[in-house]
Parts: sequence; structure tokens; C-alpha cells
Amino acid sequence: MVAADDAGLKRGKAVPKAGVRMEEAALNFASPKLFPPARRKLAHIPGGDGWPIIGNTLEILADPKGYVEARAAKYGMVFRNNVLGETGVHMLGPDANELLLLDEQRNFSSQLGWARFMDRVFPRGLMMMDFDQHRLHRRALSVAFKAGPMQAYLQALNAGIAARVAQWRAAPGRMLFYPAMKQLTLDLAATSFLGTGIGPEAAGVTRAFVDMVAATIAPVRRPLPGTQMRRGVRGREHIVAYFSRQVPIRRERGGSDLFSQLCCATTEDGALLSPEAVVDHISFFMMAAHDTLTSSLSAFVMLLAGDPAWQERLRGEIAGLGLAPDEPLAFDRLESMKLTEMAFKETLRMIPPVPMVPRRALREFSFKGFTIPAGTSVAVNPLFTHHMPEYWPEPSRFDPSRFAAPPAGRHRFAFVPFGGGAHMCLGLHFAYMQAKCFARHFLPNIRVSQPPGSARDWHVWPIPKPRDGLALQLQPV
Ligand code: HEM
Repeated sequence: MVAADDAGLKRGKAVPKAGVRMEEAALNFASPKLFPPARRKLAHIPGGDGWPIIGNTLEILADPKGYVEARAAKYGMVFRNNVLGETGVHMLGPDANELLLLDEQRNFSSQLGWARFMDRVFPRGLMMMDFDQHRLHRRALSVAFKAGPMQAYLQALNAGIAARVAQWRAAPGRMLFYPAMKQLTLDLAATSFLGTGIGPEAAGVTRAFVDMVAATIAPVRRPLPGTQMRRGVRGREHIVAYFSRQVPIRRERGGSDLFSQLCCATTEDGALLSPEAVVDHISFFMMAAHDTLTSSLSAFVMLLAGDPAWQERLRGEIAGLGLAPDEPLAFDRLESMKLTEMAFKETLRMIPPVPMVPRRALREFSFKGFTIPAGTSVAVNPLFTHHMPEYWPEPSRFDPSRFAAPPAGRHRFAFVPFGGGAHMCLGLHFAYMQAKCFARHFLPNIRVSQPPGSARDWHVWPIPKPRDGLALQLQPV
């Protein structure tokens, strides 16, 4: 059962307990021996466990896309493998996405799926909660994405992006774009998420986030001295200390930034979230937003650099908004940027920032003729799905017009960059808003191209990132 403290509410406030079923309660952190299932129980699933101890971990880390495609070709759309010390099952394609993400039967735990990657560095974020507890927190946090607060974030985005684009325009030429975008995204989070500039804390916060995210896939899972996991755990301590100091201040003074919204968020019965829960949620939000936006906006600009015609079409769309040179993008104009949205969607299709989504089965289930036992670690793969030629002809071609009007019959889970079902990305509209705001300031000011010889080689895991920092050529328009 979900205890009041576990639910992350202030002590003494009621927490609904109804609906938490025995199976869900049985498979919690207090009883880890119930999973994973004995390896022999998965022997009927095609696949292999790789090398002793490391299993297939190094293969998948080296080339996550190629690895999954090769396995799919050899074993089919359901296969067994051994990653990060556990044998699990990969399920590919839109039907698998629908089954796991929609999860109408409440068969799959997000918390126990992500725990292997996040428990030490991002515990108790929304993705680390299930069912009733998740619903309770998600509803409380949703207030931060209503139109009023979104308009305030957009103001902060407009100001921050316009100023940075002006700097880039003043220093044209070849530029390593990914680190510049990472810095911009962090600076934007400082204003739109935290309200005031992080100031001298910025360097420490950046380092802490980088270490925490890297720890999510560190091959050594214990925080031993000198390991990435140790750096990740230290990073978390830093972040927790920083945000904890801030909660009472924000509660006192309020504010239209995202952190202040979370500090003041209440559940349906009026209970505030506990300070610890707020700290866990805001640090999770920062992580969920920071690397996904850095990755997707870098990819967006890279793909436009490689397609001058689409770059010009988007410039034309923005010119059509009739804005004065420095005029901010207003919230009610976001809807008009259809081509920009199509191009951003196509970017998310080609290089989804969350290439793989894990869950853990809470009870036995069947898929494509295979019976998969309770306790199994299962994963679906947006990256694979987004490159299936039966849904996306010529999948490696950048073609935003695929999103002009989805062809009749395209599976609704064939495009899942933001997941789906109860855990669907809560920041989805924020992401589209930031992408459009970025395009509004960047494209009318800067023409971008790919310098000869520059590579398009990306690390895919845990979040896609160009290996060489992404060299691009920037020219004033
Ligand atoms: C292009 C940018 C983004 C992508 C591709 C993305 C993708 C995702 C995906 C796939 C999930 C679901 C994971 C699962 O089902 O296990 C998710 C969840 C989440 N995302 Fe995003 N995200 C993005 C940006 C953001 C931003 C900007 C924020 C915050 C402002 C955010 C906050 C969250 C949160 C809080 C969750 C957990 C939702 C829940 O469990 O109920 N994301 N995101």
C-alpha cells in the first residue's frame, strides 16, 4: 500500500489507498527478490544473453540502433537479451508500444522499469511512481503547465533566446553547436524553471546534472569510489541541497516560474506536496527537460542545416507571422507555426530523445504468442519504431511533410517520442513551445549550413548526442 510518507505529501493529510492492487504492492522495492524471474523462465524467448557478467551491455551501448535492428532481423520483434546485469525482453513496433505505454490492464510498472537506471540519482520523479500515487502527483504537478504559467515561461524563453541568438549572429562562422545549445537550454531553465538566474551556482548545477544523467547508464551500478555512479550520487546531493534551500523561499514569495508553481502545487484535497517531493520533482523536471531539449533542438538545427529548402520554408512561415524584428512570439501565435511543428516532429521521429522506454511486468502477460512471466524487465523502442519502413517510407530521409496529415491507417503508436498513456511526457507542450520560440528567433537571424567534412555521428544512449559536438556554419541572414 502507498503510505502517506511514501506518497510524498505533508504528514497528516489523507492519501487515497483504494485501487492499489495486491500484485502492485507485492512487487515493490521492499521485496526485490520477487524479480527478476529465473532466467530459465525466459528461455523460450528467442535471443541470447551475451557475455558472462556484462551480457550484451557493451554491444548495445556501442550502437543501440544497429544492435536492436540486428537482433530484430535475427530473432524477430520480441527478443531476449542481457543488459546492465539483467536478462530482459525487448518488444518492438507500434503494437508493443501500445501494450506497454497505454497499459489498460495496469500490467506494467514504470517505477520498477526506470529504477534500474534512475533509483540512485532521480528517485521519486513522476516516472518513478505508479498508478494511484502517480495519478495523485501528476494531477498536482499539471497545474504548472496550464496556459497562465506557460505564458510566463514563454516570456522568459523569448528574452533568453533572442539575446543568445543576437550574440551568435554577431560572431558568425563555424561553431560547435551542441555545447552552445546545452548552455542555452540550461540558461533558459534558470529563468523559465527557476525564475531568477542561477548565478554563481550555474557551473555546479550543470556539472551535477551531467553526472546524474551519465550515472543512469553507468555499467557499475554501485557508487564505488571513482565510478560514474559515485559522481552521479554526489551530483544528486548537490542538487538536493540547492533546491531544498529554495523551497521555503518560493512558498513564501510565490512566482510564475515552474519551480515556484511546483512549490505551491496541491493535491485534490488541498494538501501541499512535501518539500522532499517538490525537490525530487523539480530535479526530475530539470533532467527530463534539459537533455531532451538540448538533443532535439540540436538535431532540429542540424537537419535544417542539411535541408536548405525546408530551412527557407520555415523562415517564410515565420516571416508570415508579421512580427517586428525584436517582437516576442506570443502564446496565441504558437498554433500558426504549422510547418515548424512538422519539422520538429520529423526531428523527433528521426532522433527521438528517449530512444528506449523500460517497464517491469507486474504479472504474466502474452505478446505475439509469447508468454512473459511476472517480474520481467521489458522495454519498447521508439527509435526502432520511428525507422520502420512500413510506417515511415525511406526512414532516413528528413521529410517534415510526413506530418502534414497523417495517412489514414497509420498506427497511433507509430510515433511515440513523448511516450503515451498515463506517463506521457508532461512537458510535451513546453517542448513544442521552446522549439517554436527558438525557430522564431533563430531562423530570421541566422542561416545555418553544414561545413564540408562535418560528421552526423550521434551517440544514441541514454539521450542522443553528436559525437563531435556538431560543427555548423552560421551566417547572418
Ligand atoms: C523534446 C523534448 C522531450 C521529449 C522527447 C520527452 C520525452 C518523454 C518521454 C518519452 C516520456 C515518457 C517516459 C515513459 O513513459 O516512461 C517523458 C516523460 C516525462 N517528461 Fe518529457 N520529454 C521532453 C521534454 C520534457 C520537458 C521540457 C519536460 C518538463 C518541462 C518534461 C517532463 C517530463 C515528465 C515530468 C515526465 C514524466 C511523466 C510521467 O511519468 O507522468 N519532458 N518525456
